[in-house]
Amino acid sequence: MRDKIVAILDVGSSKICCFIAEIDAESNRPRVIGIGHRESRGLNLGTVVDMEETENAIRTAVDAAEKMAGGDPIDNVTVNLSAGDPKSTQLCVEVSVSGHEISDNDIERVLDLGRHYLEDQERFVIHSRPTSFSIDGVGGVRDPKGMFGEKLGVEMHVTSASVSPLRNLQSCLNRCHLNMVDIVFSPYASGLSTLVADELELGSICIDMGGGITSIAAFKDNEFIYGDMIPFGGHHVTRDIAQGLSTPMAAAERLKTLFGNCLSGVSTVRNRIDVTQIGDSGQESVTTIPRRMLTSIIEPRVEEIFELVRDKIIEAGLENTVGRRLIITGGASQLGGVEELAKKTFKCGVRLGRPLNVDGLADTTAGAGFSTGAGLLLYATLKPEELHFMKQTKPKQGVFEGISSWFKENF
Ligand SMILES: Nc1ncnc2c1ncn2[C@@H]1O[C@H](COP(=O)(O)OP(=O)(O)OP(=O)(O)O)[C@@H](O)[C@H]1O
Ligand SMILES: [Mg+2]
Repeated sequence: MRDKIVAILDVGSSKICCFIAEIDAESNRPRVIGIGHRESRGLNLGTVVDMEETENAIRTAVDAAEKMAGGDPIDNVTVNLSAGDPKSTQLCVEVSVSGHEISDNDIERVLDLGRHYLEDQERFVIHSRPTSFSIDGVGGVRDPKGMFGEKLGVEMHVTSASVSPLRNLQSCLNRCHLNMVDIVFSPYASGLSTLVADELELGSICIDMGGGITSIAAFKDNEFIYGDMIPFGGHHVTRDIAQGLSTPMAAAERLKTLFGNCLSGVSTVRNRIDVTQIGDSGQESVTTIPRRMLTSIIEPRVEEIFELVRDKIIEAGLENTVGRRLIITGGASQLGGVEELAKKTFKCGVRLGRPLNVDGLADTTAGAGFSTGAGLLLYATLKPEELHFMKQTKPKQGVFEGISSWFKENF
């Protein structure tokens, strides 16, 4: 029997990355057989701003992955989404069941009502899951099927995004002859690949620190219960260094990855570093600065990012539950001192996360910057019940033609 092939695309603000994987028929684990990644182009905060540039960047990444995987072209991809201001909404809706026995059809009807509520506001529903059901106003019902009542209610968690950025991304993919078979909110994918079973079950929050975006996904009882993002990431740290030290962006990026630390007061072996500076006349010169000067630029920015994340967690009412355990991943989490600074800011259990449960990743692609990609592979591989997903129904006909056509074909 031939192993099944799946392909994913992580469209990030720093890099575009394509993974092609074989799903082992016995273990059902993805094994990566093709990888292609390149610097992101034509995107701003995950939103396509230049179709042609984005298309070229996607093509290059996909071509490289296809070549490595043996040359067969891929058609279908599972893609992440950070564009379109993705938001979590907790909804409560009710339908009448007129005293008859509640059927699958009634459950589907009430779930549809919740989803259509957001679609009516021109939002595209990416994920939707019931949290609990109620019958005649009495909550806490796990499975209402077969029970009797007048009114069936549901509390649900719906993740939605604006439609236009999604259409633009879909259009870019179509130009590359790729069919977007599934969309996953980026931090949800990162959480799937970095959290261990206990963290998914007992509750924790994955924080993905990318280039332009830091995103948040909370999990409990093996469910994705909340997601959000803030428009700051590692790129802003680099920009602060470039401005603060009057050095070119490329030099600032190098300084950050080689000597950067976000915790002042750590003793370092090499206490002075060379910095290429651009003088008033535009001439470049090299000066030596104390390393703590670099730290003093980085620390407040990372602290600010953490404080914004903490505000989101408090706003969502999660700080005393799932917010007691944090897993930090994403390329920017590799900055020295991130774990310690996070412990200091959040005052809870923190660990750094890397992709788990995906085979065949080389050292260079097994790091924290590839957590979203690995999570997308797991999403594309696992059966819906293993992901603890509720079957999602199609969006309302006619409203989102472009997107709903692929959705209809694939669900
Ligand atoms: N070793 C390192 N130390 C510090 N920062 C790093 C390191 N490696 C990568 N980064 C930073 O990580 C960021 C890129 O992270 P990542 O690859 O997760 O972004 P992305 O997924 O493309 O973007 P986003 O998720 O924001 O759309 C860049 O700002 C880069 O400078
Ligand atoms: Mg990312």
